[in-house]
Amino acid sequence: MANKIKKIGILTSGGDGPGMNAAIRSVARYAFHFGLEVAGIMRGFQGLLEDDIVPMNHRSVSNIINKGGTILKTARSKDFATDEGKKKAAEILHRNAIDALVVVGGDGSYKGASRLYELHGVPTIGLPGTIDNDLNGTDETIGCATAINTALESIDKIRDTAQSMERIFVVEVMGNKSGYIAMEVALAAGAEDVIIPERTFDYEAMHDEAREGNEKGKVSWIIIVAEGAAKAQTVAENITKAVGLETRYVVLGHVQRGGTPSGQDRILATRLGAAAVDLLLNGHYGKAVGVLQDKINVIDLKNATRRVHEDMDRRYELLKILT
Ligand code: F6P
Repeated sequence: MANKIKKIGILTSGGDGPGMNAAIRSVARYAFHFGLEVAGIMRGFQGLLEDDIVPMNHRSVSNIINKGGTILKTARSKDFATDEGKKKAAEILHRNAIDALVVVGGDGSYKGASRLYELHGVPTIGLPGTIDNDLNGTDETIGCATAINTALESIDKIRDTAQSMERIFVVEVMGNKSGYIAMEVALAAGAEDVIIPERTFDYEAMHDEAREGNEKGKVSWIIIVAEGAAKAQTVAENITKAVGLETRYVVLGHVQRGGTPSGQDRILATRLGAAAVDLLLNGHYGKAVGVLQDKINVIDLKNATRRVHEDMDRRYELLKILT
């Protein structure tokens, strides 16, 4: 049977992440290799609803593999979240002769893409594009490795001042409802403690540890807080109240989303972009593509949302042993 996909639309949606451009490049150039057309949809599902669609060619994706952000721009669309929005999106795709859609995004984008397939039969593939690493079916999401490195660069600098001025620093990192980034940077930074949504945290034990450590001459601490677990400011203020030690807090925020994608993210994005096109060419729709144990892995989009990492207790135990 002849392949029915002639033109692929690609969009990036939700929070941007380093490596999204590498994914766009891979989807586009791999599709061109098979003689397909590619349309770039601007500003995610919002741009789709506004018919903001540009034709792409080989050169549209030149010199972007090393760039952070996304050349297609991105948004979180309230309009697309409604059933009416999805119906309109399907109509606009049809009007533009776009036969299939590749969505690079996170949890919310996957949910939207999955419904678009279920409700209107739009052949859709999801690529895991989020710094949070909170999607099923893949060991890592595109952007996460870079975000961890970016956070670490700052935390290493914070440690210099923490040691010099003999202070406790509480550093808040992103991750939405997941504590993955927080746990990874805590391990890699050699932090004294980490507060994540996946574990109940014993604040009193931490205060006691800081008090006792201080009595024995320990003068600086780095405590990592996942944004989904607590506010760094509150944690810092409570330490000062309970222990009496000078404490500062830093919210790393959106700096973690920017910057040059790491080699790991570029490679992941490049492999996944091609795999998305392969799926469409082989008639597999409504799927999320990832890499598990170094192999391309495909699951239903509807099962790909909301991953909860196991092994957090063991990682925490390790962190405490090593610090
Ligand atoms: O999902 C990516 C992410 O950066 C989360 O870690 C964070 O909670 C959220 O997006 C922030 O979203 P916004 O850029 O809309 O403030």
